[in-house]
Amino acid sequence: MSRAVMVQASPSLALVKYWGKRDERRNLPATPSLAVTLGGVHTRTRITLSEADRVFVGGQEQDRERFASFFEALRRRLRTEARFRAESLNSFPTAAGLASSSSGFAALAVGCTRAAGGVLSSRELSALARIGSASAARAVFGGFTLLPAGARYARPLFPEQHWPELRIVVVVVSTQAKALTSREAMRATRSSSPFYRAWLVSSGRLLARALEALERSDIELLGLCARLSYSRMHAALLAAEPPELYWLPATVAVIRECAALRAKGIGAWETIDAGPQVKILCLEPDAPAVVQSLRELEPGLRTILCRPGPGPVVEEEEE
Ligand code: DP6
Repeated sequence: MSRAVMVQASPSLALVKYWGKRDERRNLPATPSLAVTLGGVHTRTRITLSEADRVFVGGQEQDRERFASFFEALRRRLRTEARFRAESLNSFPTAAGLASSSSGFAALAVGCTRAAGGVLSSRELSALARIGSASAARAVFGGFTLLPAGARYARPLFPEQHWPELRIVVVVVSTQAKALTSREAMRATRSSSPFYRAWLVSSGRLLARALEALERSDIELLGLCARLSYSRMHAALLAAEPPELYWLPATVAVIRECAALRAKGIGAWETIDAGPQVKILCLEPDAPAVVQSLRELEPGLRTILCRPGPGPVVEEEEE
């Protein structure tokens, strides 16, 4: 009973966004999402068996309610009574729109299963991680992944080696946790945005184009699809009641800088999740110029250079 498992998992960055739920209780997504698992940033989680389920992120105990349905589903699936203590550290700001819940729940699903001595297929692990956060269903796999609308689990599409030149520059605009969780913002969009239906319809169409771009490693088309997806997602949210805007002045400055770079022939396509941070898609030869331009734009702005990365890795087990 004294097993400790250490898992390292990377966040899943959506190029075509999941935003809205088809089934809130089961946490099934209303839109398809196409994502890349990021190498270069990670969550490390140490899991032990314990008297009660407790989760700490960066030393701070998390709200138990947020994790209850995940742990219940885990016990049902593994047919166990085990309880878990998880201590997690992120190499990037937590709950600030950098997809920490995707790597966090992926690490928990893999680590708790192992700590309890269970064995689940990657599909089952993906379905389990989804109960915590739908984006985590994708983070159970490395490389490029797809979570179809309404799906219980994600599918790996291409391994990380599919596109070796692809780079993602994560721009940390703010390290503050966001005021509104993505879950609350999705609920507001679904219940009150007049653009919600249009968002759902456009997402399916965009997915087809983005898949084609990914297959052909066409950065211009993938970049355009990524820009359309985040813009439409934020437009739908901005039209919710009350209106919600996650962006800060520096977010807008980075969007404009990407446009200026493209006008100069340097390929840089931005995407934004539920927060102020910007992630920029580019190819390896352009990455230094992209990073340099951000330094000049705002000295002190933190950037993290990522590439397509691996799925969760179980690093250590002690008896
Ligand atoms: C904007 O997966 O955090 O990052 O399922 O409610 O936990 P829950 O939401 P979460 O939402 C991610 C939203 C997004 C887009 C994406 O990753 O697809």
